[in-house]
Amino acid sequence: MTEEKDDIGISKREHLKDYTTTARSEYSESSLKTIKLMVNGATYALMEGRDIKPHHTLLYTLRETLNLTGTKISCDYGGCGRCVVLIDGKPALSCLLLSVDCIGKNITTIEGLCLEGKLDPVQQAFFDYSALQCGICTPSQILEIKALLEKYPKPTEDQIREAISPTICRCGGPYKLVVEAILAIAEADYKNG
Ligand code: FES
Ligand code: FES
Repeated sequence: MTEEKDDIGISKREHLKDYTTTARSEYSESSLKTIKLMVNGATYALMEGRDIKPHHTLLYTLRETLNLTGTKISCDYGGCGRCVVLIDGKPALSCLLLSVDCIGKNITTIEGLCLEGKLDPVQQAFFDYSALQCGICTPSQILEIKALLEKYPKPTEDQIREAISPTICRCGGPYKLVVEAILAIAEADYKNG
């Protein structure tokens, strides 16, 4: 059987052979480097080129590779604030960060707040005050409040509103209830839970 060749005399089979050889060698297990990401106190070893690629955002890695879907994807370009995580304790938009730039940093997602089945005081306050509707913006707001309380254990109403202002609530925003919830836990001495 003769092989079909294109105008410049290369057969499809030869072309595919080259392609698959390159692809295999690029991703062969032995040549892959391990990249470690610290998320919620655990270290994840990810294979560079297979699990984690240079263009992967932190949001993508968290949701698609680590299956931590508590961090929400919405606009995916830094406009809505619904993908907030804490990087070394500070709120950051995970859709604007490359995963490889987060090596060596402590990443906290909403999943990291609930330890041994017990809600974090901020999560509990949101629940007790029904300070959410659909909940898409809630993980971001909770993490923004966590960072705020670390800095100001007894924040003012303005500080609370400012802290959650980067996150747009499409449901109209139970902002008043968020403020009430956080003022209440601050009053009860947040640091002591
Ligand atoms: S998904 Fe990151 S800011 Fe909208
Ligand atoms: S509660 Fe639905 S987007 Fe905020």
